[in-house]
Amino acid sequence: MENLSRRKALSLGVALGLVGVTSPAMASASTGPVTGAAAGTGPEWIWDDAADPLMASMLDNGHVPAINTAWASWVNNNDPLPSGLPADFTAYLRQVNRLPSWADPAKLTRAADFNRRRDTYLFMLYGLGSGIMSTVIPREAKSVYWSAGGADMQDRAAKTFTFGYDLSELGAFEPSGQFVVTANKTRVVHAAVRHLLPRSPHWRAVADETIPISAADILVTFHSLGTYVHRRLLDWRIPYPAADQEAFLHSWQVAVHLLGVPYEHIPRTWAAAEKQSEQLLTPVLSPSTEGIALAEELLGLTAQIDLGVTRGFLNEFVRYVLSDEVGDWLGLKRDYAAAALVRTAWPAYILFREGLSPVMPGTFYMVDQFVRALAMLFLNKGSSGTTTPITIPTGNRPA
Ligand code: HEM
Repeated sequence: MENLSRRKALSLGVALGLVGVTSPAMASASTGPVTGAAAGTGPEWIWDDAADPLMASMLDNGHVPAINTAWASWVNNNDPLPSGLPADFTAYLRQVNRLPSWADPAKLTRAADFNRRRDTYLFMLYGLGSGIMSTVIPREAKSVYWSAGGADMQDRAAKTFTFGYDLSELGAFEPSGQFVVTANKTRVVHAAVRHLLPRSPHWRAVADETIPISAADILVTFHSLGTYVHRRLLDWRIPYPAADQEAFLHSWQVAVHLLGVPYEHIPRTWAAAEKQSEQLLTPVLSPSTEGIALAEELLGLTAQIDLGVTRGFLNEFVRYVLSDEVGDWLGLKRDYAAAALVRTAWPAYILFREGLSPVMPGTFYMVDQFVRALAMLFLNKGSSGTTTPITIPTGNRPA
């Protein structure tokens, strides 16, 4: 499966909204301020001082269509900044379009290699774990649903796929890679969404916040992706040496930083990340009308192909990687025979793949086909070109 390539690794997850569609987490009034910050100073009170006013002005002055055209050819980290952009937009990009000084090239290289070696597990976890988890993060679900991209989840999935694809590319952070550009485009899209969504009467009617996508929200999304996957790899006893763990964390630290989260709020260790996840992510998980609709739409995408398993198996796999509570929130129909199968077939699949058991389970090919079919579904969506362009929205979902 590894040779299906990194392209698939994050694809379903990314497609399913894990990345890109993400979350807002937040310590609400009832959970109190997070990470020890006093009320008013924690990451839930931080948006993006550099990008937000700029994008508000770009949208209000009608510059966004021209920016979308001008930056279409800006793809590689070492591409010159595109011409034809408003001067203040160019000045902003000049400031942010670089790796932070603390980025460690050796760790980033190792992270890319880890993504390649572990792509099967990452793919399943990002896809069916994080992706569906994003639908039970209400702030995320509501902003994704009511933003322009929510109206066409397939297209959105393909675009969001770009983030995961570029992050998991070998050399993603090197001059010839694309991740720094993709992250910067995403940061700008988020800034635009902060200006646009508050004008959506539909979003305002359901939101419990006035400005979406705070730094805390971005951290929540990170935990629903990186921290969640890290924990599951450990739980599943997949060989995962300390150097891989550190490298994987580092790639996420850099990614989160490029999305505009201040350094002091980015966890330094996996232990700190797990603690922050408990504070920010766990308390906010709950169902919402928008999240239930998104989950059905995302899982329904898979009905387009023969996965080699039933929808009952798919539902039960989601329950297995998330929990029955989440499955119940989303109304995923039970299939008790499939549930029993998943709980024996998946661990047996891992043991055999990892060489920890010499016995090939009878269910090996069934599970393998499932994994490959899911990969191909989203690979096909994302593979019409190497990069699906990220464009800045100019409006919201109509209704
Ligand atoms: C857009 C990634 C956090 C909401 C995007 C896009 C990417 C992305 C790649 C552009 C693709 C597209 O146009 O669909 C990420 C990553 C995050 C993150 C990696 C954190 C690790 C968040 C959070 C929220 C959010 C916390 C909301 C609470 C959105 C919305 C869009 C978007 C509404 C715009 C979709 C549109 O065009 O209408 N994100 N995101 N994202 N993201 Fe995020």
